[in-house]
Amino acid sequence: MEEVERLIREEVQREGSISFARFMGRALLEPGLGYYATAQRRAGRSGDFMTAPELHPILGAAIAQLAAATWERLGRPATFRWREYGAGEGTLLLAALDHLAREGHPLLDALEVSVSEANPYRLADLTAALAALPGGGPPLVAAGSPPAAGIVVANEFADALPFHIVVGRAAPGGFAERRVSIDPVTNVLTWAEGAPDPGVAERLAPLMASWPPLAEGQLAELSPATADWAHGLSGELTEGVVIVLDYGREGAILRDATSRMAGTALAYQGHRATADLLSEPGSRDLTAHVDLTLLRAAAVAGGLRHLTSTNQAKFLATAGVDGEVARTRTGPAATLEGAIALRSALAQLMDPRRMGGFAVEVFVAGSSPGANALADPASPLPGTAAPNRPLV
Ligand SMILES: C[S@@+](CC[C@H](N)C(=O)[O-])C[C@H]1O[C@@H](n2cnc3c(N)ncnc32)[C@H](O)[C@@H]1O
Repeated sequence: MEEVERLIREEVQREGSISFARFMGRALLEPGLGYYATAQRRAGRSGDFMTAPELHPILGAAIAQLAAATWERLGRPATFRWREYGAGEGTLLLAALDHLAREGHPLLDALEVSVSEANPYRLADLTAALAALPGGGPPLVAAGSPPAAGIVVANEFADALPFHIVVGRAAPGGFAERRVSIDPVTNVLTWAEGAPDPGVAERLAPLMASWPPLAEGQLAELSPATADWAHGLSGELTEGVVIVLDYGREGAILRDATSRMAGTALAYQGHRATADLLSEPGSRDLTAHVDLTLLRAAAVAGGLRHLTSTNQAKFLATAGVDGEVARTRTGPAATLEGAIALRSALAQLMDPRRMGGFAVEVFVAGSSPGANALADPASPLPGTAAPNRPLV
């Protein structure tokens, strides 16, 4: 048994039961022990799941195009921050920097980087990779630095934030919380139903206020952590854009009893998904679809302006990466392997049934004339226009 499971069991034994959010928080982030707290690499082919940046640098190039256009419209501020949540070892960031370097883009001279990455090993990798760039790369500023002009990026971050699981019941309020307990007979971690912890109920109630009643026995995830994070995003920037990419759906779709009786929570290990969320805590990723309705409402309540809701296929199609694609296929340094890798990656990244269907939410921060120009419908930012050609 992993040490983190022993610690979780101790807590469950002490408390009788704990929320799934608490279980997930410890299973993923328990210092030195959690799934995202050890030296082991989790994303990528050798890990448990594949993300778009790990598949190919083209998404990094696309977000670099968005960052560059944002910087231009803000009047080329002397300092422009790339602020990234869950940056891992910096694969997306490095792809963006690489793209800007290939373009000889002047934004590189204004760029500073700030990341929130819970895994100290991945943060060390990212720091070393930046330092190894020509000229030492852009300066790395601490998370929590005063806000600056810039771009906030979060790819597959929100889905990793802890969530509660509620179950539709004819209980007061129409639901009970699905909690984690220990089976007295088998001694394995198991589900129990009960009332949310004091304090949590008050947090969940307003977030559920607009929900139609859940069907009897229907499971649904709810993440106050995601709402809090989205609410705080406007404080990150004086002006600029926020781009959140993740698998998610509108709240009403996630809680449609005809298609989602069991909710969307899954555990991942070795590129296989399972609905068994409680086994082997610390060895499996735990995740659920992001409630985009909740995310947007919280971000806007926090002060961001919602610019567009699109998906990864449309984002890539309109982000202005045609030059990058042409260079990879036929440029002076093009190789057959590179061209094939790009084609194969685009097939996955732009297929609406695969990563192409991932949600992309874009927001504008600030109210300066430059920030207003970012939201000009007559001149959409890269990635935010409707595609004018059929997608693959
Ligand atoms: C699914 S991975 C995505 C990594 C990267 N963005 C990508 O697309 O390949 C989630 C990342 O978020 C980090 N993470 C998870 N919870 C976090 C938290 N509360 N604060 C900061 N980072 C967190 C993990 O360590 C991991 O690097």
